[in-house]
Amino acid sequence: MAPVLDPLFDDLKIEDLRQRPGSKWRVDPDVLPAWVADMDYPVAPVIADAIEHTVRRGDLGYPRWEDGHPLRHAFADRMRERYSWPVDVADVREHTDVVQAVQVLLHLGTSAGDAVAVHTPTYPPFHHTVGAMGRKRVDVPFLRTSESWAANITGLADAVATHDCRALLLVNPHNPTGRVLTRDELGEIAAIARRHDLLVISDEIHAELTFAPHEHVPFASIDADTAARTVTLTSASKAFNLAGLRCSVAHFGPRRLLAVRDAEPTELYGAVSTLAVEAAVAAWRHGGDWQQRLLHVLDRNRRLVAEAVASWAADPEPMPEATYLYWFAADALGLGDDPVAEVLARARVLLSGGPIFGEDGRRYLRLNYATSAAVLQAVLNRLRALTAP
Ligand SMILES: Cc1ncc(COP(=O)(O)O)c(C=O)c1O
Repeated sequence: MAPVLDPLFDDLKIEDLRQRPGSKWRVDPDVLPAWVADMDYPVAPVIADAIEHTVRRGDLGYPRWEDGHPLRHAFADRMRERYSWPVDVADVREHTDVVQAVQVLLHLGTSAGDAVAVHTPTYPPFHHTVGAMGRKRVDVPFLRTSESWAANITGLADAVATHDCRALLLVNPHNPTGRVLTRDELGEIAAIARRHDLLVISDEIHAELTFAPHEHVPFASIDADTAARTVTLTSASKAFNLAGLRCSVAHFGPRRLLAVRDAEPTELYGAVSTLAVEAAVAAWRHGGDWQQRLLHVLDRNRRLVAEAVASWAADPEPMPEATYLYWFAADALGLGDDPVAEVLARARVLLSGGPIFGEDGRRYLRLNYATSAAVLQAVLNRLRALTAP
């Protein structure tokens, strides 16, 4: 059956996409890119209007935000409205992006040589960040069950105890598997964190890309002890496609860590820009209708990918419960040890995957399906052709 189209998200011209200066479409002219986690869709009109209004008003000088930072308030309202999680704006800070925030937190909240637990496969910058910060990365593989992916609670408990981990870098919803951890799973992780007095850095950047009936639960909302040991990181950049604007928020549960952070020189980590704040506030306050349509289109697209994967894989791959990223084993496509390079060479499709996601990612591929139905079908047709006799 032909997919139902939405002009807001499906009227993309491939010639226009190829002219874009961003990294996603900087590929050879015969390559279809479905790799980096950017969406191909145009900026939501409410966000474009907010940016344009700010520019036309003519004041791009130094902002003055001390009296109630608009981003902090928009974030706090969003958390309360969506998740009934009460956030005190006094505990919120901003960074240029989530990866920067992770590095700042590892720098201030752990010491050189400390062990940090990370679920694998993992978002590649986290795979290298922990080591690059002089900390010891302790990999805890997600487990592939017959139905889905599991957070490997026993493996996490063992790894934390064996390596005396001081922190956990939690990514929920999870990139690349798209798992949305349940309240029960998060409760079990919280119990491990309490037992071993872990700092938890909870990256929830994909939360608003969760498909019903799955529900995102902020880790810090589990209970008071968890709240007090968790720094929650998020931004509007994934769910509204604003990564190039460079803006994220950090909610500090640990008061001591917040004090340490506030004692740093104020300009050391840079600051977010006026336009980035305007855009994020517009997204969170007025982007609801656009986002609902987006989720509809992404849900359609993940089903198109699921159908395609089922056509070449005997063992059906679990559909992502969130994100616009589909993680699947490369073996069924007849690919060897370097599946990303092989798909590029043979199908002229650029995907992500492989050991940059951790050793257990070696024979996996990640497909970004946040594009028009036409582009996605072209990508899937090229992949299907790999299995043709
Ligand atoms: C789990 C996760 N965290 C962080 C990021 C990057 O966020 P930022 O651009 O704010 O560093 C991504 C980007 O795809 C991601 O998937």
